[in-house]
Amino acid sequence: MTDDLAALRDETLAKVEAAGDLAALDAVRVAALGKNGAVTALMKGLGAVAPEQRKERGAALNALKDAIAAALDARRAALEDAALDARLAAERLDITLPPRPAPEGLIHPISRTIEEIVAIFGAMGFTVAEGPDIEDDWLNFGALNIPAHHPARQDHDTFYMPGRTPEGREKVLRTHTSPVQIRAMLNRPPPIRVIAPGRTYRADHDATHSPMFHQVEGLAIGRDITLAHLKGCIVDFLRAFFGIPDLPVRFRSSYFPFTEPSMEVDIGWNRRTGELGRGGDWLEILGSGMVHPKVLEAGGVDHTEWQGFAFGMGIERVAMLKHGITDLRPFYESDIRWLRATGFRPEDVASLATGLN
Ligand code: PHE
Repeated sequence: MTDDLAALRDETLAKVEAAGDLAALDAVRVAALGKNGAVTALMKGLGAVAPEQRKERGAALNALKDAIAAALDARRAALEDAALDARLAAERLDITLPPRPAPEGLIHPISRTIEEIVAIFGAMGFTVAEGPDIEDDWLNFGALNIPAHHPARQDHDTFYMPGRTPEGREKVLRTHTSPVQIRAMLNRPPPIRVIAPGRTYRADHDATHSPMFHQVEGLAIGRDITLAHLKGCIVDFLRAFFGIPDLPVRFRSSYFPFTEPSMEVDIGWNRRTGELGRGGDWLEILGSGMVHPKVLEAGGVDHTEWQGFAFGMGIERVAMLKHGITDLRPFYESDIRWLRATGFRPEDVASLATGLN
């Protein structure tokens, strides 16, 4: 290679090495090998070289061109590697940082409904009472004025459990929350104001009945608690719970062995659209009445001195009505997709327009 070519090569290779980024490198390539580049110009001048030197000059120019092209490729690869390294460093995640807490888990509509019921009755001075799911048949039936062979026992499709209580009584899965009325009376002296939400069981299973479901019981005992108190509490509760201040409520004469008189309570709705509060149809929502003297006696409460009211309501029923849930079965299937769609965020507080707080 002649001196002029060697000088051009050294100069160009130095520029290749000095190129700090891909744009600078491309400028070096254009200056050497581009259409008007230095090497290209020398190639074009080959025709003017004396024929006996042309072959050697041509080979030298090709070697020069190859050397520059190889240096360009190597430098480009190095610059690209460096660019990738820089990007990887810049985009690095510090996986040792503690994660922000993601909202996880929602409140099941049954739990949420119980919370709302407790909040509304809590504002009226009721406290929560509890009883066991496996109940003594005396508390589930006898103490509630449902003797053995009473037809109401058949209505309840009772699950009987093996074994007996220490008193020798049969054990049942409670068919309603009403035994908690008796437990509450036996546990504390009157006056009493309790509600008792919880699981109940009946051997019933179809699209609208589950063998396990939930009820909430209410019991108020005082010296002069009357039917007017019952009606006032129930109307206030239903209007607060459903958030409809003028919700129509109807009390309809009925029969329960443990209350006298007894009333079923209906709310106004539209049977066709499911809309609550208007539409001219009635929907039964709960059972209620004045506690029967025999029930007071079974609870150790003197019925000549005390009287009161009780009510019982299905929780699934009111949860479905309030939230437009049409199928009962998913309540118990633990399907995460249903729970995500239907559950409640703990931080969302229900607006219970009670006017009571
Ligand atoms: N225990 C009744 C039922 O399960 C409801 C009820 C409770 C009715 C209290 C009146 C008083 O159907």
